[in-house]
Amino acid sequence: MITPSRACLLALALLPVAASASADSISRRPFGQKDGKSVFLYTLTNARGASVQITDYGGIVTSIKVPDRAGRLGDVVLGFDSLGRYEKDSPYFGALIGRYANRIARGRFTLDGKTYTLFVNNGPNSLHGGKAGFDKKVWAATPTHPRGGIGLALRLVSPGGEEDYPGALAVRVVYTWTDDDALRIVYTAVTDKDTVLNLTNHSYFNLAGAGSGTVLDTRMQINADSFTPVDTTQIPTGALRPVAGTPFDFRRPHAIGERIDRPDAQLRIGQGYDHNFVLRGHGLRVSARAYSPRSGRVLTEYTTEPGVQLYTANFLDGKLRGKGGKLYARRGAFCLEAQHFPDSPNHPRFPTTELKPGRAYHQTTVYQFSTY
Ligand code: GLA
Repeated sequence: MITPSRACLLALALLPVAASASADSISRRPFGQKDGKSVFLYTLTNARGASVQITDYGGIVTSIKVPDRAGRLGDVVLGFDSLGRYEKDSPYFGALIGRYANRIARGRFTLDGKTYTLFVNNGPNSLHGGKAGFDKKVWAATPTHPRGGIGLALRLVSPGGEEDYPGALAVRVVYTWTDDDALRIVYTAVTDKDTVLNLTNHSYFNLAGAGSGTVLDTRMQINADSFTPVDTTQIPTGALRPVAGTPFDFRRPHAIGERIDRPDAQLRIGQGYDHNFVLRGHGLRVSARAYSPRSGRVLTEYTTEPGVQLYTANFLDGKLRGKGGKLYARRGAFCLEAQHFPDSPNHPRFPTTELKPGRAYHQTTVYQFSTY
């Protein structure tokens, strides 16, 4: 016979099963207005109950809630609670970056014999698309339901000459949140005139939880034998420097904080890590892996791109308050920006960032979460 207390225990034992069998879902709520357009916040919840929030403003990933080693959900990306804060205060938290992620020296490049002059917004250089990059546009969003997950397709048309880049661009980014806690980002774009393009996502990760202090204890592994050293304005010198024997050697996992303050000229320029790593191999392969000893969370990044920018949030000053009023520490996050190399239009020996009519730009990058 089943006594009431045994029935209770049974019900408890059954609960997690019931939860894991629940279906995935996507919902949206208003997130404000930008230039007369309504902005929405989409919540994608997978069959395990882990969730991602994305807004159509900037294609920004505003939260990623994934389990720690004890199964507790926690938000692992930095961000804000309101659209206004993203518009005013954001150092590109979670955003889609274009047309050109990272820097173009002195905001100038030459293509087909013509010199283009871009808006300069980072010392003498143009950074992350100029004055109003893709991170500041309202994208057209459509929920999708691919197998094994849920998705949000975002579309943006960038008119010819926007931010002084040549060519009209049609860009499509599809975020898919899978039932095994992977955020897959597929980018495609076409142009009507020769142009340059370098897209990325600028999520700031803290695997112990956004606002839980620094990421100096996070162990990082990057599948790169070399990196692109920079001048004092953070423009690549053109060299590919072997990581062997330098603080940039992440071929085996090292704590981010282990060597970040070494008296190294490159680290001094970035005030820590803010460098492009030259990834091994081609096609969709593992580019980097980060382990948080405090939470047990692991992030594995896969990408088809040739490089990844490791940025350890050196320019956060510890005064910025984010979601839930939490203070974000200097070095309170790391970014793994999958990309072509910075300033490629001025470095003919770097993999090309040129896009021509009749050809399609394509990138796939995956952020896979797990625990250890
Ligand atoms: C990139 C750059 C950094 C910094 C951040 C945004 O990672 O490389 O130097 O500009 O974006 O603050």
